[in-house]
Amino acid sequence: MIHLPFYTEIAERGRAAYRASDSNKPLIRVVVCGSDHANKTALIEQLVDANSETPQSHYRYIESGTRRILITATPSENTLTEALILSISSADIAVLMIDARNGVLSQTRWDAVLLSQLGIKNIVLGINTLDLSGYTKSAFDKIVSDFNALAGDLNFSAVTALPIAAFKGGNIATTATEIPWFTGQTLLTALETIQLDQTAQEKPFRMIVDSTTDSGATGRIVSGTVAPSDKIKLLPSIKESSVTEIKAGHDLLGSATTGQSVTLSFADPLKISTGEIISAASHPSEISDQFRATIFWMSDNELLPGRTYGMRLGAMTAQATIAQPRHALDIDTMDEHAARTLEKNDIGVCHLYLDRQIAFDPFAENRDTGRFTITDRLTHETVGVGLIDFALRRAANIHMQALDIDKKARSELKGQRPAILWFTGLSGSGKSTIANALEQKLHAMGRHTAILDGDNVRHGLNQDLGFTDADRVENIRRVSEVGKLMVEAGLIVLVSFISPFRSERKMARQMMGDGEFVEIHVDTPLEVAEERDVKGLYAKARSGEIKNFTGIDSPYEAPQDPEIRLATTNQSPEEAAEDLLIFLKENGYIGS
Ligand code: ADX
Repeated sequence: MIHLPFYTEIAERGRAAYRASDSNKPLIRVVVCGSDHANKTALIEQLVDANSETPQSHYRYIESGTRRILITATPSENTLTEALILSISSADIAVLMIDARNGVLSQTRWDAVLLSQLGIKNIVLGINTLDLSGYTKSAFDKIVSDFNALAGDLNFSAVTALPIAAFKGGNIATTATEIPWFTGQTLLTALETIQLDQTAQEKPFRMIVDSTTDSGATGRIVSGTVAPSDKIKLLPSIKESSVTEIKAGHDLLGSATTGQSVTLSFADPLKISTGEIISAASHPSEISDQFRATIFWMSDNELLPGRTYGMRLGAMTAQATIAQPRHALDIDTMDEHAARTLEKNDIGVCHLYLDRQIAFDPFAENRDTGRFTITDRLTHETVGVGLIDFALRRAANIHMQALDIDKKARSELKGQRPAILWFTGLSGSGKSTIANALEQKLHAMGRHTAILDGDNVRHGLNQDLGFTDADRVENIRRVSEVGKLMVEAGLIVLVSFISPFRSERKMARQMMGDGEFVEIHVDTPLEVAEERDVKGLYAKARSGEIKNFTGIDSPYEAPQDPEIRLATTNQSPEEAAEDLLIFLKENGYIGS
C-alpha cells in the first residue's frame, strides 16, 4: 500500500524541521512532472540544497520566507500508476519540465491533460537546458506559445513559463547569468508567490482518524486548522462535540494545522471508529453511499462493471460496485466517448455503489477527502484511483422499507432453514443434473425449493448478457440478488451457474447471512467434461466457432474452500444428490 507521501513525510521524516518551523506560514505542495527523471531530480536538488537540509525521501521540504513547500517528482513511466496520480492530485502547483531542444511533444499534451484532469490549476513551465547552445528568446517564446495552443482547452488558471537549467541550477534558486534577455523571477520565487485559490490549510478543518483512544482520536489533519473549543462533527456517524485538548505525542498544543498528526480529546464521550472524518461543525463533510467519480484505471485487467471492488478513502474502507462507465475520455482529443469498460491507462466517469455510508468531500473541494483508491478484493492490488465528482442524491431518497413478515416468519411456516446451494463448475460438469436430482428429492420430502439455472436464466432475466468477463460478472451479480430474494421468501434455492470467478462467488457469499450460502464445487476435470460434451459446445469451442468458452479460452477459477466438493468422476449424479441431502439434514437445513 502506498501511503500519501505528504503525511508520511511530515509525520516520520520531516518532523523535526516541521516542528521547528513557523506553522502559520502556508504549506503548499509542488509536483515536478515530465518524462526525464534525471532532470526532475536535479531540479529538486537545486531547490532544496539552496534552502534547507532534509532527509532523502520522496518529498523534500523547503522552508522559504513566505511559504513552507513540500516538493516531489512524478515517477517517469508514461503510464497511470497510483504513485503518479497521488503525487499530482495532492499538489497545489505543478512544474512541467520541457526540454528546449525537443520543444512541446505529444508527451507534453499527455502530461498536461493528466494535470488538468487531476485538478491542477497552476502550472509552471520549466523550459530546461538553457545552458546549452541555441537557447534564445525566440526558442523560449515558441515553446510557450506552442504550450498555450495545446493547453487552451484545459482550464488552467495560470501558466508561468521560466527558463531554467536543472543541472547547473540556473534560474532555479538563484538568477541565471546566462540569459540576459530574461528578467523574470526564479523558480523558487515563483513557487513562493504564485497566487493560489485556497491552500489546504485555508479550507475547512478535516482530520482522518487513524486510531482511537479512550477519550479521543489520533489522525492526520488534511485541511484547515483546529484549536481547543472548536466545534466538530464526526462523520459518517453524525456526532457533534467540541475539542478540549490537542496533543502531538506528549506535547500539548495551542492549535494544530494541515499536515500534522495529532490526538484530539472531546467534551463529550464519543464512540469514534477508525476511518471516520472529523470536520469543522460549521462546514462538515458530506456522507453518501453512491457517487459519480472520475476513475483512472491502472490494472492490466479491465474494469468489470458489476464486480465488487475494495475502496479506500482516507482510512475508511468499503466495498464498491462500479457501474458501466457513463463515458471515457480520449486523452489526445479530450473527447468523451461511450465505453463499456475501462482498460489500463483509461480515464472514465462512472457511478459507484457502496455497501455503507462514508464521509467525503467532492474532489474539487478537498483533494484528500475527495479521492479514493480501488483495489482488487482477492489480490489487494490497487487497480484504480477515483476522484469524487458528487454524491448521487438518489441515495438520500431511497430508504429500505421495513417489513413485518420477515425471512424467519416465512421459513418457520415452511419448516426449513432457507439457503442458497451454489453449484459451480465447468460447462458439462453435471451441475444442472445434480441440482435437478436434489430438487426432486427435496420436493418429494415436502420441502420448498426454487432452481436458478444458467441456461434458463439466460433466456429471460439475463438475455442481454453474453460470455465476456464483464457479462459473466453481471450475470452472477443479478442471479445473486434474485437468489437472495428467494432466500428471503424462505426457500432452499439451488443456483447452478458456471460462475467462473472467485470474486463474484465471494460477493454472493457475502450478501448472505451465516450458513445461508453453501458452495458446491462440481469438480469435473476439463478432459472429462469435454469428452462428455453433452451439448456439443466443446467441439465448437475447439474449432473456434464459439469464443470465450470456459476452460478453453476463458478462465475457470476453482473454489479454494467450498463447503462441498463433488468428484463426479467417481460418483453418479444420483449418489451426489444423496450426499447433498445428508449434508442438508446434518446441518439443520431440513428435518430428517
Ligand atoms: S457463467 O459463466 O456466466 O456463470 P452460465 O452458467 O450462465 O455461465 O452459462 C453457461 C452455459 O451457457 C453453459 O452451460 C453452456 O451451455 C452455455 N454457453 C454458451 N456459450 C458459452 C461460453 N462461451 N462459455 C461457457 N458456456 C457457454
